[in-house]
Amino acid sequence: MVALDGPSGTGKTTAARRLASGLGAGYLDTGAMYRVATLAVLRAGVAEDDETAVAALVRRAGIGVGTDPAAPTARLDGADVSAQIRTEEVNRAVSAVSAVPQVRELLVAEQRKLIREAVESAGGVVVDGRDIGTVVAPDAPLKVFLTASADVRARRRSAQDAAEGRQSSPGTARESVERRDRLDSTRAVSPLRAADDAVLLDTSELTVEEVTAKLTELAEGRG
Ligand code: C5P
Repeated sequence: MVALDGPSGTGKTTAARRLASGLGAGYLDTGAMYRVATLAVLRAGVAEDDETAVAALVRRAGIGVGTDPAAPTARLDGADVSAQIRTEEVNRAVSAVSAVPQVRELLVAEQRKLIREAVESAGGVVVDGRDIGTVVAPDAPLKVFLTASADVRARRRSAQDAAEGRQSSPGTARESVERRDRLDSTRAVSPLRAADDAVLLDTSELTVEEVTAKLTELAEGRG
């Protein structure tokens, strides 16, 4: 199992999927689970900072993610919401929803179950998130924490938005990325941080192919 953590715009998701495909392993996008929870909150019209209401809603919501790296899917109550969870509205609300302790408790339990199942069925899993090496799977044999400069991350986010048909500019992407990282790094429960035993990898000057190659080398080195 590989625990891959870091802020957005580091190339984490693309590299994680390619790494998983190359290894013949499963891929678990834990961010997608927090995004589906957030979509449920927004659709229900519950205020993101109403922790009790948010926790009750997330407990009832059917949050499902697929672990095939070639076609990761996200579902809410059985419906495919893979596109709907990537909107700016969800970007703005997801840090508040994911800071609610009961939400994390529910989703971390589900993530541990999905990790066990993926290891049983595919023989391994690459897990993409913010607290995988520190909280979800502290015993992971390989933990990597990806970083990149704020400029590079904003540019990548804006290019990704454009490629997926969403309007964006480097300025608004930078504001959005920095705000989310600030909230994720300063929350009380499971803040974004590198585990003490994580390998740090700065991807600012690397292409996604280079990041994938480096991760593959690390994963093969650790068996
Ligand atoms: O990885 P992605 O950008 O899709 O994650 C969306 C949000 O979900 C993050 O900004 C963070 O608030 C939350 N998240 C989290 N813990 C994780 C993965 C994501 O709190 N393991």
